Amino acid sequence: MWGGRFAGGPSAVMREINASIPADKRLWRQDIAASRAHARMLVAQGIISSADGEAILGGLDTIAREYAERGIVEDFALEDIHMHVEARLTELIGEAAGRLHTARSRNDQVATDFRLWVRDAIDQVDAGISAFQRALVARADEHAAAPMPGFTHLQAAQPVTLGHHLMAYYEMAARDRSRFADARVRLNRCPLGSAALAGTSFPLDRAAVASELGFDAPTDNSLDAVSDRDFALDFLMAATQTSLHLSRLAEEMIIWASQPYGFVTLSDSFSTGSSIMPQKRNPDAAELVRGHSGRIAGCMTALVMTMKGLPLAYAKDMQDDKPPVFEAYDLLALSLAAMTGMVAECTFETARMAEMATTGHATATDLADWLVREAGVPFREAHHIVGRVVRAAEERGGTLEQLDAETLAAIDTRLTGSARDALGLAGSLASRTSHGGTAPSEVAKRVAQAREALGME
Ligand code: ARG
Repeated sequence: MWGGRFAGGPSAVMREINASIPADKRLWRQDIAASRAHARMLVAQGIISSADGEAILGGLDTIAREYAERGIVEDFALEDIHMHVEARLTELIGEAAGRLHTARSRNDQVATDFRLWVRDAIDQVDAGISAFQRALVARADEHAAAPMPGFTHLQAAQPVTLGHHLMAYYEMAARDRSRFADARVRLNRCPLGSAALAGTSFPLDRAAVASELGFDAPTDNSLDAVSDRDFALDFLMAATQTSLHLSRLAEEMIIWASQPYGFVTLSDSFSTGSSIMPQKRNPDAAELVRGHSGRIAGCMTALVMTMKGLPLAYAKDMQDDKPPVFEAYDLLALSLAAMTGMVAECTFETARMAEMATTGHATATDLADWLVREAGVPFREAHHIVGRVVRAAEERGGTLEQLDAETLAAIDTRLTGSARDALGLAGSLASRTSHGGTAPSEVAKRVAQAREALGME
């Protein structure tokens, strides 16, 4: 399609390095949709005849049917999806096919197709994250009051509820959805009509094409339109952040499922066995989600490196934009489905979690708070007093709750009355009623809001 100025043809290696069809055939639906919109507009503007327009639209319908039924036969000589479609159109309708490319370049074509594809991907990912949120909220609802150790530095810190812990991931997922939604707004401008880089002399109706393809408006600068891949980077960055969240939950599931923790038993459907150790139940899906997040971040880095330093406007380097986006999408969709299933089906070992919730003297802060509240002790001094209480418990090899009233009073005379009650688990949890705190009442409130936001029963 561009051989006119050449005497010889490209070498086999040239053909292979130049061909993007193995990757960009995934754009065929978008390519045909954009061609249909362009052809209709060319007719409406009197740039091509309605007879040619009819032939083009009929031919594109046939190609769509063929691709859906039989797939695409890749031909390196035809480089990419745009030329595959045009070549087949020429076979089907002859000369009229050559009029479709009027006032158009593959540069604005690919920018348009790719935006349409990423827009669909955003909608799919949003549905996947929302399903993940539903699973989290359902389990958080079930366990809004179930105690578990809360950690900092992976050391027992203060008791929290399992529902509160699961809802932390709901909040992350909510931010992830808002990042994709935000990316979608910026993405939704139509490059078609920018032609190769400079615009065109034909009297196009770019607004009509944009609106037919569901874009909010045409892009405003032809150089920017053909060389901008921010929408793909926005997608990859949002995907990276989402996958980081999935990876952190995956890591927790792996730790929780280990024998020393015993906080969770993964369902058979999300566990694997060992070929040598008959007793094994391995959290492979969680490990793969953790692994995939590294690959997704790699895809993001790949496109960042491709785009940095490219002069305006289009350069062929940009053909490398699609594989990382497709790969990241596939990995993210699978990771979301795996984590959703894992969360929905696992058994939380709540008795074990509750038993561990007071280990490591996790209610020490509650006693310090009691001294502040009930005895007017400044917090820093209270911290020091309770530090001595912890030392006394450790010297006796027991828990804080096992210390008797005399021992407490001997450490500080103000540690009397209801001081020992402050060391109890249920009271500790129930007292954390600050907005966003772990008190079961607060967790239930946030779960109710989430159910409402997600339209859950
Ligand atoms: N296959 C190319 C891509 O994906 C299409 C665009 C332009 N080709 C060109 N020679 N200007 O980037």
